[in-house]
Amino acid sequence: MPKPKVFVTRIIRDKGLDLVKEFCEAEIWLGDLPPSREILIEKVRGMDGLLCLLTDRIDAAVLDAAGLGLKVVSNHAVGFDNIIVAEATARGIPVGNTPGILTDATADFAFALLMAAARRVTEAERYLRAGKWQTWGPSTLLGVDMVGKTLGLVGFGRIGRAVAKRASGFDMRVIFFDPSSPAAPELNASPFASLDELLRESDFVSLHTPLTAETRHMVNADFLSKMKPTAILVNTSRGGVLDQDALYEALKANRIFGAALDVTDPEPLPLDCPLLTLENCIIAPHIASASTYSRDMMALLAAQNLIAGLKGERLPHCVNPEVYKAR
Ligand code: GLV
Repeated sequence: MPKPKVFVTRIIRDKGLDLVKEFCEAEIWLGDLPPSREILIEKVRGMDGLLCLLTDRIDAAVLDAAGLGLKVVSNHAVGFDNIIVAEATARGIPVGNTPGILTDATADFAFALLMAAARRVTEAERYLRAGKWQTWGPSTLLGVDMVGKTLGLVGFGRIGRAVAKRASGFDMRVIFFDPSSPAAPELNASPFASLDELLRESDFVSLHTPLTAETRHMVNADFLSKMKPTAILVNTSRGGVLDQDALYEALKANRIFGAALDVTDPEPLPLDCPLLTLENCIIAPHIASASTYSRDMMALLAAQNLIAGLKGERLPHCVNPEVYKAR
């Protein structure tokens, strides 16, 4: 029996790639950069499966180019805003993602960013490398204390909860805003019915919400104006959740103490982005899930979703399970 044909849009970790190669006739894009849209559309033609990354936009044109034989789209990410899921659903194609296994790595990194912004780690290192360090100073590079402070989580899914656990080790008070999530007494985290109230009370605000039409630019001038002037904003969700122009204005005017972003819009962030001129803004290149275990497991889960879809089985992690109802 011929093996199913799949297009894999980048070299993923061997733990997943080996499985894909064993089960499929795989065409793997070997470039360091994602395939261009034209190449993606050309390569996907006639494929039975597509394993893509968050850097690939999968929409009607890509799905149409693949044709009626496409059985599955497997995204190597927990977020799936790069895929127009409704278009896949309309074609009866299950879409897979990789939840769970990157929760700890992402929460660790959110906390690392939070601490780095509070204690001005990257700014201090720039100061040292620039030869500005003359002597130990009682008031040099003073940061924000964490113990006893309030952490406000916007979104209280797996990653938000894992951040709450880390905060308890710092004796922080944790509050969250997530209308779809119940209280979590075991995590000592209190739900807030109003986002405004959460912003008014929080010393740190960390974003853990997916990017949807409702959350796009949720962090705007109005949101930032409700934060404390001493507060720090952390974003490890998606860049589009935040209006970067509004953030620049707020940081520049010291309307909040600082921000730390793992995600931006666009990615990569152009080097002339004004945010990069600010000392009180840390920006990382979307690496929150970049630990060896997490990326190995993301590759494995993406391969398992792909293969299940090719076999006509239910994907272990499917974001549009309604496709199965229609069958
Ligand atoms: C990373 O951002 C992911 O969604 O997995």
